[in-house]
Amino acid sequence: MRAGIAAASIVVLAIGGCTASQDKPAATSSESAKAPTAAASFTPGAEGAGDPYFPTYGNGGYDVAGYDLNLRYDPASGQLDGTATITATATQDLSSFHFDLATLVASKVTVGGQPATSKADGNELVVTPAAGIVKGTGFTVVVDYGGKPAPLTNDALGVGGWLRTKDGAFALGQPESASTWFPVNDHPSDKATFALAMAVPDGVEAISNGVAGERSSAAGWTTWRWSENKPMASYLATVVIGQYRVQSSTHDGKPMVIAIPDSLPADGPAAQSMALTGEIADYLVTLFGPYPFDAYGGVVIDDNRVGYALETQSRPVYGNVFFRERSNPTVVAHELAHQWYGDSVALERWQDIWLNEGFATYAEWLWQEHKGEETTQQAFDRAYRDFDWKTPTGDPGADKIFGDAVYQRGAMAVHALRKTIGDQAFFALLKSWPAEHRDGNATTADFIAAAERASGKDLTSFFRAWLESRTQPARP
Ligand code: TRP
Ligand code: ZN
Repeated sequence: MRAGIAAASIVVLAIGGCTASQDKPAATSSESAKAPTAAASFTPGAEGAGDPYFPTYGNGGYDVAGYDLNLRYDPASGQLDGTATITATATQDLSSFHFDLATLVASKVTVGGQPATSKADGNELVVTPAAGIVKGTGFTVVVDYGGKPAPLTNDALGVGGWLRTKDGAFALGQPESASTWFPVNDHPSDKATFALAMAVPDGVEAISNGVAGERSSAAGWTTWRWSENKPMASYLATVVIGQYRVQSSTHDGKPMVIAIPDSLPADGPAAQSMALTGEIADYLVTLFGPYPFDAYGGVVIDDNRVGYALETQSRPVYGNVFFRERSNPTVVAHELAHQWYGDSVALERWQDIWLNEGFATYAEWLWQEHKGEETTQQAFDRAYRDFDWKTPTGDPGADKIFGDAVYQRGAMAVHALRKTIGDQAFFALLKSWPAEHRDGNATTADFIAAAERASGKDLTSFFRAWLESRTQPARP
């Protein structure tokens, strides 16, 4: 979803000069005036979104407004089946377009209600509508699909995607994961709303992003419904299926859903950490401004394959690795900080990931100081000492997007910025950035401009030292 593009009427125009509109005769359609008459002007959408780090991720030629998934998962067989309804707007005169879809097979595809041809091409589904779609027009794609989803493995970045468990499955992962369970434009630059209806056998829980809808049961299957109504980057979509204790409450007038696996104690460190979600979110509101989403929560997964937590929108998922010994508020502060820095304000390209991780790590430092533990200055000093400066924070390389140059040096850059522009400008910027880019995407260049505006200073050499240099920046 991008601002300024309305996805309302559906106008499908035939390729080859002969125009046909669904809604009204072509001759009177205002859209048809824009329609080129030559078939050659309708071209296939690109099979990648053009990210400098991950050029094959996502696709070109359209912009998704919403995903509406109606799925059924059988833990006994590992089979996932269902229908994805995707509303989008063409950003060029489109003759065909790609979705990212790994392993699963589409059995039927319609575009604007008309049968479309589709074929699998590696981890892509290529859709050719019966007629070309004119740039700027909205269209709806319905994909019936299914199969046994498989995870993605990336040696440098860790496991992600759909992972089957003894009692269910879960899907999460960064920088991509969604394509393992639904047809998607799998790049954060194309944010979209997300609704999920997931049918699982009675007695199994299915937790996802956003606000819970009506739960219904029929013929031994329970359908869980969730909707995330604020635009979301695709890697932030999650579903967790299995034996969970699901606690529903409200926080600050919004629904809060916390899910702890039955395999973990109800009062153990994982549950204790999740119980801090409201308090920590309230602290972050004082730093970052209003909470950006309609729901709160957290889900813990007890699975050794997952050695991370992920800021899945409105409801982070935490590997139990963080809670083995004791409760861990710091990781909760990190994932909740991402709700502003990473989720509501999402990346335009993966290279800028310090905008997510530098700020989430700095939020950990601020939380610890707030709790009377280590100060932010002590945390900075500890990180600054003996650091390996050879990887630039603003361009760490695709295989180092989760490295120390992004998390630790990123947080040091944030602290150094604070020392350079002063607390007043810095804390104003911590709030104005999420406010100005709420529900959108932004780049490092946007941030530099915002920091210069907030401080009235030329920060060119500051950011060159902290984001680009391969040697130790001067202590601020
Ligand atoms: N970005 C996640 C966080 O900071 C952590 C993370 C690192 C991760 N590597 C990952 C998540 C691989 C998913 C997959 O909260
Ligand atoms: Zn993070």
